[in-house]
This record gives sequence, C-alpha cells and structure tokens, in this order.
Amino acid sequence: MSSTINTVAVLGGTGNLGKHIVRALLVGGFSVTILTRAGSTSPKPSFEPYDVAFKEVDYSSPSSLQAAFAGQDAVISVISTDAAQQVQKSIIDAAIAAGVKRFVPSEFGVNTRKPGVEKTRVGEFLAGKRKVVDYLIQNEDKISWTGLSTGFFFDSALENGLTGISPLTNTATIVDSGTQPWPASLRSHIGRAVSEILRHPDITKNQYLSTASFNVSQNQVLAIVEELTGKKFAVTRADSKDIFKSGEEKLPNLAKGDHSAFVDFLKAYFLADGAGNELKDEDSANEKLCLQTEDVRAVVKGWLEKKGLLAA
Ligand SMILES: NC(=O)c1ccc[n+]([C@@H]2O[C@H](COP(=O)([O-])OP(=O)(O)OC[C@H]3O[C@@H](n4cnc5c(N)ncnc54)[C@H](OP(=O)(O)O)[C@@H]3O)[C@@H](O)[C@H]2O)c1
Repeated sequence: MSSTINTVAVLGGTGNLGKHIVRALLVGGFSVTILTRAGSTSPKPSFEPYDVAFKEVDYSSPSSLQAAFAGQDAVISVISTDAAQQVQKSIIDAAIAAGVKRFVPSEFGVNTRKPGVEKTRVGEFLAGKRKVVDYLIQNEDKISWTGLSTGFFFDSALENGLTGISPLTNTATIVDSGTQPWPASLRSHIGRAVSEILRHPDITKNQYLSTASFNVSQNQVLAIVEELTGKKFAVTRADSKDIFKSGEEKLPNLAKGDHSAFVDFLKAYFLADGAGNELKDEDSANEKLCLQTEDVRAVVKGWLEKKGLLAA
C-alpha cells in the first residue's frame, strides 16, 4: 500500500486551531473534508480561493464515522480539549475500520509524553489525551499515527492575555522573575507542521513530535511591547506558587465546567522560574518538518499594528 497521502478529513476544522490547519493543508495541495458534529452551530469558515467539503458526522455512531472516513488517507483530529479526551478512541476505531492510513490526534499543546508530566496537575488534566496516544501505540499495526506538541498558541495567548501583557491598559502581570522561556507556536505554524507531517508520512510515522515557532519569556515579550508602543507598563509580580495554589482552590469548580484551574496550572507549568518546559533544540522536529523558527518581534509588531497600538 502506498504511503502517499492525498485526501484528509479534519475533525474540528471549524475551530480555533482547526481553521489554520485546514488552510495549510489546502495550501499544501491536499484534498480536505471538514467533518462537523451533526447539529453543530460552529460557523463554517471560508477558505477562499480553495474549495473544501463539509460533512456532518454523528460521533456517537461508529457507522456514521466509518462512512465519513471512507476514501480518506488521513484523519486529523483538532476537536476541543474535553472532546479530545472523551470521543477519540471510537474515532480511531472507525478510522481503522475505514482503512485510514494516518491518524493525528488532538494534542497541539503540552507535550503529554514528556517523562514525569503525568505526575503534574497539567498532566492529570490531560490524562485522556495520553490514553489516546497509548491507544494509537497499541494499534500501530492497524493505523499509523503522529502526535504533535506545540506549546502555547502564541497569537491566541497575545489576544487572550495568557502572556500576562495588556497593551490596552499598559499593565503586565509577570510570573516570578519573568525570565523563564516557554515554547510558543503561531497557529499558522502548527498548520504548516501538520501539512509537512502528511507530506512526509514515512519519516513521521508512529512518532510524537514537538514543534514551536520560538521559545520566549514574558520579559522578552514585555520589552518588545514597551519598545513598540513607546509606553512604560505597570508591572505586577505573581508568585508561581500562589498561582498554583489558586488553581488548587478552583479545582471544585471543574465539575461545573469552569476550567480556570487548568489555566492556572498551565501558567505555573510553563512560566515559573526553573520550569524547564521550553522546547530544547535536540527535541525539536522543526528541521525534520522543514519549518523555520519565527521572529517574535515581527509577530508582536504585526499584532500591535492590527490593534492600532504602535507608537507613532
Ligand atoms: N496550545 C495552546 O495554547 C492551546 C490552546 C487551545 C487549545 N489547544 C488544544 O488544541 C486542540 C484544539 O483546540 P481548539 O481550541 O482549536 O478547539 P475549539 O475551537 O474549542 O473546538 C474545535 C472544534 O471541536 C468541535 N467540538 C466541540 N465540542 C465537541 C464535542 N463535544 N465533540 C466533538 N467535537 C466537538 C467543534 O467543531 P464542530 O462544531 O465543527 O463539530 C469545534 O469547532 C485541543 O487539543 C486543545 O487542547 C491548545
């Protein structure tokens, strides 16, 4: 059987990251079908000038999933964090039954295979993702797979405040000394990474890979934002131990669907002094995937420019 991949089904292709992966796959010349939940209210993005097919699928029905996967060489799952931990096993079973060659699970963040991560709060939250990759490893004789960790989505983190820097109020909340580097990827970079994984199915087969646009610290981002806005920011210091404790206190809210504890644990996991969760050169798949690192300053400049916040 040829390992070449031409047809790709993307689950969650309407989402925050999924849109970027779909666009990169289309640019890469793949024929893409976006699978959406039956009754989904997610707006259907436009990928002009490219054509993309949309198909509804009932995630609770193995036959619906299998029919949707018929004729697809690869299935990329970019479904939301909770869904990724609940429904991917049956999706994999259906992909195997349909003869899909490659499955990419919804990872795209913390490296859930890093030794010891399972003993951290972040790892506990993502235990369902680990189980999915364990399941793929058990079924390597039936379907090949590639997992991808990416660190924070940098463009989302700038916008949603996860970097701690708020150019609208000229304030910043810096964790510990602010010098700890953490891995970050633009969503467009992740899209290109997935496209390259499928373009090189042999060298990416049955592997858990890590990529990042760059490693960056909070202080670096703050210095760039201050320089480009021409403003001095008011800085509040936050102790990573207090952030972790705040996460522990919020844990009971999880049952009510409030995930803010996870956000606190993530901040402590990546931003705390000595965290050591940046992407080391020897662990990076950027070279394998022919991906360039990117220029943090240029990215931040583009973001501030769009917001009309660059100094005159
Ligand atoms: N590294 C980071 O900074 C970071 C940040 C956020 C997320 N992530 C990770 O990236 C991946 C994608 O996250 P995202 O934020 O892009 O997701 P998202 O936008 O919240 O959701 C993606 C899509 O999942 C589908 N979906 C939603 N609920 C579902 C359910 N119950 N069952 C099946 N499908 C469902 C929806 O598609 P339809 O409506 O079309 O069915 C939705 O558009 C996840 O693994 C997440 O953990 C990483």
